Amino acid sequence: MKPAYSRIAGTGRCLPEKILTNADLEKMVNTTDEWICSRTGIERRHIVAENETNLDLCEKAACNAMQAADVAAKDIDLVIVGTTTPDQIFPNMGCLLQRRLGIHACTAFSLEAACTGFIYALDIADKFIRSGSAKCALIVGGETLSRMTDWTDRSTCVLFGDGAGAVVLQASDEAGVLSTHLHADGQYADLLYFPSGVSKGFDDMKSGKDFIRMSGNEVFKVAVTKLGEIVTETLQANNMTADKLDWLIPHQANLRIIEATARKLKLPMERVILTVRDHGNTSTASVPMALDVAVRDGRIQRGQTLLLEAFGAGFTWGAALIRY
Ligand code: COA
Repeated sequence: MKPAYSRIAGTGRCLPEKILTNADLEKMVNTTDEWICSRTGIERRHIVAENETNLDLCEKAACNAMQAADVAAKDIDLVIVGTTTPDQIFPNMGCLLQRRLGIHACTAFSLEAACTGFIYALDIADKFIRSGSAKCALIVGGETLSRMTDWTDRSTCVLFGDGAGAVVLQASDEAGVLSTHLHADGQYADLLYFPSGVSKGFDDMKSGKDFIRMSGNEVFKVAVTKLGEIVTETLQANNMTADKLDWLIPHQANLRIIEATARKLKLPMERVILTVRDHGNTSTASVPMALDVAVRDGRIQRGQTLLLEAFGAGFTWGAALIRY
């Protein structure tokens, strides 16, 4: 018999040791701690060491999630890694992670939906499980955006950080993932992008062309609108009002965007999980890392209702309602 639900069995995260503070950035570009804090809410971010890669972060986050879920490599029958910064083009990050963890022969792939990657992976894993195609999925959002950041561009380099978050999702008859909602609109592709790739070709990174490019103001406006719409869509799909939510776990790009979504829901900020101050924008890693922070510090309890949302390049955006 097919299970009624997929359910979060364990969470994990990994942040690189090295921390870059706003004071450090003041020495690198023409910026101030005051500007960064007031415009973004970010105070520090973690950055990978020279010999450290996204796969290292994903492996540690995955191990932590598997330990929390009390599952072994042999139990995992689906691996999905959301990322825009894979260690290499192929094999995909799912396969590379399989090898690190000693997981054999199950479906494994990576997907690229920018900052919404983890929500996309969650949606797909939930569908695999509810259709009976998998019983125990490992889903990871991992990113090393520092490797594609222009460290001389003050309008972007203050925003991003590195990290990985992971979740083990298992088949369950108890309520777990209640609904997922995915959207994308490629008409906004030029507002936030990395200009190069294998087929188009790469410029010399040092020429200053191959870096994240963003129209910050435009991104901000669309993000606020689309996130406002998607949280409403998610609640309506579940015949639910925001006062029944225990926690909002938003994509951690900018405190002002998060506050706008909370205002839309009339949700006090005490019920919003915030990591943006310490992590910066870690793209697809931000939601699973924020989830793990609040699970491990005891704020999120079994049986509570969580609303996860994310927005990123594409644009892509998505949300999930979860009974934890
Ligand atoms: N330090 C100091 N000044 C800076 C700066 C920095 N790090 N970055 C930009 N500025 C300056 C600009 O040059 C501009 O100066 P000017 O008025 O003399 O031209 C001024 O600050 C205002 O820039 P603006 O871009 O209008 O600021 P903003 O209030 O929109 O904030 C962002 C900029 C990037 C913080 C904001 O637009 C944002 O967060 N956008 C969304 C980004 C995002 O979330 N991206 C990822 C989506 S997943």
